[in-house]
Amino acid sequence: MENYAISLVSELKKYIGEFLGKEKLIVIAGHPGSGKTTLASSISLAAVSQGYKCLYISFQEPREKFYEETYGLSLNLEKYEKEGYFKFIKLPLISDEEMLDQLLSSITKEIVEFTPRVLVVDSISPLLKITSSSIKARSYLQNFFYELQKIVKGPVILIAELPFGKEQLEMGDIEFVSDVFLVLKHRVMRGLIARYMEIRKIRGYQLTLAEIPFSIQPQRGIVLLPPPILSEISEVREFIETPCRSLSISLPKLKKSMTIYYEYPAHYRVGEPGVLIPLLGMIISEFKKPVLFVTYKYPEESIRALFEEVIKQHASNSRVVDNALRNLVVKPINPYAYSLPELNAFENELVEQYDPAQVVFHDVGVLMSSTKDIENYMHLLQNQVFYFKKKGVMMARYASRINPLLSRINASISDVVLKAKCGKDCVDYKLYAWARFGKPQLLNSSEVSVCIREIIEELGKVVKD
Ligand SMILES: Nc1ncnc2c1ncn2[C@@H]1O[C@H](COP(=O)(O)OP(=O)(O)OP(=O)(O)O)[C@@H](O)[C@H]1O
Ligand SMILES: [Mg+2]
Repeated sequence: MENYAISLVSELKKYIGEFLGKEKLIVIAGHPGSGKTTLASSISLAAVSQGYKCLYISFQEPREKFYEETYGLSLNLEKYEKEGYFKFIKLPLISDEEMLDQLLSSITKEIVEFTPRVLVVDSISPLLKITSSSIKARSYLQNFFYELQKIVKGPVILIAELPFGKEQLEMGDIEFVSDVFLVLKHRVMRGLIARYMEIRKIRGYQLTLAEIPFSIQPQRGIVLLPPPILSEISEVREFIETPCRSLSISLPKLKKSMTIYYEYPAHYRVGEPGVLIPLLGMIISEFKKPVLFVTYKYPEESIRALFEEVIKQHASNSRVVDNALRNLVVKPINPYAYSLPELNAFENELVEQYDPAQVVFHDVGVLMSSTKDIENYMHLLQNQVFYFKKKGVMMARYASRINPLLSRINASISDVVLKAKCGKDCVDYKLYAWARFGKPQLLNSSEVSVCIREIIEELGKVVKD
């Protein structure tokens, strides 16, 4: 199963053995609260749970606080301390260079006594600070950390603090001599924290993904949210005829992997086209796969009630109504409770979970227009479109017309555009339909109703068989 929200600890457990035997210098840099301690603790947990000893040296947190915080993230390192695999020590911060020698020899002594295979130093920034005025002291310190990997005979993880607003470390050579260099950052998007792990380098490994979004979740710890990035564009090319005659000009055939954009003026309250589109999804899968209706706006009952009302109005066979409602999975999500990468990963996980024929996103108009970071949004969206196409999942995006630019973006990434327009006196509507490479068409509301009836009749044949 493809997975778009990966628990870091379980992923690390798979590879940690291979990784731990090697001498490596890993630097985790990041802003305050960006997750440096959590990341180092996750690596530590993966190591100790596989039977490798880990020494965690902290200059910051007292042990009770460290255990309390990591425990809340399901990183139970205390248990391994009792078993002798993990050791947490808090060393006092020193105030001048004179004491540096003494401090470094106490670190060496701890390593020699405990014989860890992984060492974490959280963090080296205060030590760098006190040596900042002396080049000699600084290079002595850097050399010390560099040489530590030989004593540990495994990875040494150094945490370094980045002041807010800075993305570069002021630690000279350590950045260059490290084998792995990670920078943890967070940005505020729509008032929520979006966390990113920037992979500046991994020696001996071809890097393609430079930035991985992640979240820190209670009981799950670090969850990586890599968006599905496909280097090639491919799609499932399976077609069936559209069962409704009124759409035969603009949409004679339905393609499994098509992307539909349905737009309506913000004041419109028309329900029928919103039901018509999922029915197209049901036709294409003949009730073998569900239609997933993700709503950012309404509770599940409201969506179900609308479907029931419209379908019942047109169906003569109650089994079709039952089947259609059973095939509809409604997932209400408050999009403002998640950062964009979290929302994207959550949506893609739902696709993995339900294996639907079609996914409807309702309504993306408000969500997009409240997103300042359009570049990031487009990046996630375009990759999601490619991912759906490759999987052969029909995507439908509903949007109230709020911003003309967003309307054009949505239309341009879609294969089929449906637009509700003002009819006579604006109390009725017309539906404009145009599929890529086809001809445009304007349907009136009664033609839309007939279309729904024809689809339901066709679905009736599936139920009979
Ligand atoms: N139980 C928890 N559930 C969810 N999130 C948590 C939990 N505990 C901590 N966090 C999140 O993890 C973040 C802190 O992570 P961490 O302590 O690893 O950061 P840090 O980079 O080491 O910070 P500092 O610079 O203060 O050392 C906090 O911002 C908090 O939002
Ligand atoms: Mg910390």
